[in-house]
Amino acid sequence: MNDQASKLRKMINGANMDDNKNLPNRKAKILTVTSGKGGVGKTNFAVNLAISIRRLGYRVIIMDVDFGLANVEILTGTSVKYTISDCIVSGKKLEEIMVDGPYGIKLISGGLGLNEKIIMNRENIRNILREMEKVEYITDFIIIDTAAGVSNTVLNFIMASDETILITTPDPTSIMDGYTILKALTIYGYKGKLNIVTNIVNSRKEAYATYDKLYRASKNFLNRELEFLGYLERSDIVNKAVLNQYPFLLSNPNASISKKINIMALKLIEPGGHIKERGKISFAKRLLDLFNKKGGSNDD
Ligand SMILES: Nc1ncnc2c1ncn2[C@@H]1O[C@H](COP(=O)(O)OP(=O)(O)O)[C@@H](O)[C@H]1O
Ligand SMILES: [Mg+2]
Repeated sequence: MNDQASKLRKMINGANMDDNKNLPNRKAKILTVTSGKGGVGKTNFAVNLAISIRRLGYRVIIMDVDFGLANVEILTGTSVKYTISDCIVSGKKLEEIMVDGPYGIKLISGGLGLNEKIIMNRENIRNILREMEKVEYITDFIIIDTAAGVSNTVLNFIMASDETILITTPDPTSIMDGYTILKALTIYGYKGKLNIVTNIVNSRKEAYATYDKLYRASKNFLNRELEFLGYLERSDIVNKAVLNQYPFLLSNPNASISKKINIMALKLIEPGGHIKERGKISFAKRLLDLFNKKGGSNDD
């Protein structure tokens, strides 16, 4: 084990988790939305999925960890006073920086113009973890919207989540970059469910053909099963929703893409993957385990 990893281990192990010991035994389901390539529709998907799950009666927090780009707040037209950088710099609690978004979802901003490598150093991630463990008890779902690509920050959030939703378009580079994420997760030993959503497709056939390419590559080269969560067609409604900073699930609840999001939300809350799953360990604990196991560093 290298010296850096051993220091990290000490630091993580030394984290005082006692603050959290009196919290009730109820834990949120963590869903991480990610992609290999950027601009494939992650943030739009994450925001509308959050609202859909909220409409089903669950408490939902959407957390933007695409540091530096304030995507979630822009797409929801939400004004934000504090961001995760205030947790890091001023010691604010995640609960304090959380704001109300549309339809009763809660939003945690990743901040604007920040450098991820500076923000997410090892000590800072430890502090966010301790805070995150508390947040897990006041919500049913935490939806994490990540940056694109394989960075250690993204991988750490995915590794700590119950399920991952990997978004790809039919573009071959998007599929290939998605496969790279799957490969990295396989190497890391990710045990959570891997859901695939194909986005900006021109037909159902194209959606399935896109999934099939990823499925075959994953099965043949990684020996890893994938789940097809669903697809969204190319739709101007999405672009309009972006311009209006108002989620399409609310502006166009009966549109085909909104219905498809609702079906995906139902799949994600189904009893098999329900939040009250026994033996489920918290997000923060899983991330700590990850550091312990891998001697993981957070340096890219
Ligand atoms: N189903 C879709 N149909 C048409 N355009 C879409 C669709 N999904 C996303 N987009 C467009 O793609 C762009 C990137 O979306 P965004 O959610 O910000 O992607 P990411 O978070 O992956 O970078 C936006 O301009 C959005 O309007
Ligand atoms: Mg985004």
